[in-house]
Amino acid sequence: MEHYFFEVAHLVLRYFHVVAGIAWIGASFYFVWLDNNLQEPPQWKKDKGIRGDLWAIHGGGFYEVAKYQNGPEKVPSTLHWFKWEAYTTWITGTLLLSLLYYVGAEAYLIDVSKAELSQPVAIASSIAFITLGYGLYRALCKSPLVKNGLAFTFTIILLIALFAWGLDKVFTDRAVYIHIGALIGTCMAGNVYHIIMPSQRYMVGEVEAGRIPEPTPGLNAKQVSVHNNYATLPIIFIMISNHASFTFSHEFGWLILVALFVIGMWIRHFFNLKHQGVYKPQVLVSGIAAFFILMLAVAPWHLLETKKTQANSSTNTTQLQSLVSNDQAWQIIDRHCTECHSESPRSKMFSAAPNGFVLDSLGDARKVMGLIHSRAIVTKDMPLGNLTKMSDQERAQLAQWLAQQNKE
Ligand code: HEC
Repeated sequence: MEHYFFEVAHLVLRYFHVVAGIAWIGASFYFVWLDNNLQEPPQWKKDKGIRGDLWAIHGGGFYEVAKYQNGPEKVPSTLHWFKWEAYTTWITGTLLLSLLYYVGAEAYLIDVSKAELSQPVAIASSIAFITLGYGLYRALCKSPLVKNGLAFTFTIILLIALFAWGLDKVFTDRAVYIHIGALIGTCMAGNVYHIIMPSQRYMVGEVEAGRIPEPTPGLNAKQVSVHNNYATLPIIFIMISNHASFTFSHEFGWLILVALFVIGMWIRHFFNLKHQGVYKPQVLVSGIAAFFILMLAVAPWHLLETKKTQANSSTNTTQLQSLVSNDQAWQIIDRHCTECHSESPRSKMFSAAPNGFVLDSLGDARKVMGLIHSRAIVTKDMPLGNLTKMSDQERAQLAQWLAQQNKE
């Protein structure tokens, strides 16, 4: 019964995490768009201290937005801050990480074929990694490097590559992606907490005291909010990457992550330019092209080769001797998959089949051979965390059985 409540907690956290993330990223998109679209106001507005002017229509009404150069004369009685979207996303994300990857470390975080970590050591390493990464980012933001957009971007990409490569040596493939995501998310929320909010409090304080705020805190806040904006597309990909096991389970999964991070930022760049009135379709087109080239480059081409050799040797008698019987296939599936993928799982982790994917009989398996092939033979990220210790030989036998079914 406790697994059931564990899964409900998982659902609630994931749901809140996504909803808060939508609100946060939506606000980030909106304000960067707003800033980039501000126009020179008419003189009478300039006289009031307005620097940027914007009109919009939405939901059946006209909106007039004015950005003040140095803040309004008086702080309005109702001033909207945007911070809880960020904090809620981070808090729910941290709880979700703890529930899945710390409580469920054995299945999601630890990969004994890479490093035999105990649960406490794995958790401590995870926390240390995120803390260290965030500290490094904060230090970079204080360094002169931050003024040079290109050099800063390259440094960040290099660091992400280094981190992803390092994580890949110790954690499960999917944990590598989620940890890079957790680090980026922590930097983004930290930007709000450590830079943007203090600068806004300072600005409000100055306006209340009848002084003109210094521009530096506002500019610093603007800078990190641009960082956040460029991180949005990559982080959304990482949030949903669990559903694309061909990315994280690839031999060079960490490198694919880096490539997708760069492509995501590049595509975001197109939109930011466009909002500023600079229309460069080649940025978008090259980003999309790079994505598809990457997908072609990492495709499991070797499968075609195996098919060919199988076709060539189908009359070979030694091949016939190594036929895998239905009984053998069922034993493998029952031993390694049915524990979780069942109407009534024996595994302590699940109260119902994960993703509703049931393998209670050979008949079930015959209906979903493509899916079994892709997760147990190609990406090999099933059994989850290889908890049932499926051997390479068993995978080969299962592959052979699947191939036999396809021929029949
Ligand atoms: C310890 C539990 C566990 C075991 C054992 C396990 N799986 Fe899974 N499986 C999961 C979880 C959790 C998911 C959902 C998350 C995901 O897709 O990564 C899943 C998802 C899948 C999916 C995706 C289904 C869909 O429709 O999205 C396939 C296919 C799959 N498993 C195949 C297998 C095969 C084949 C085996 C045996 C070789 C196996 N699994 C063993 C836990 C397990």
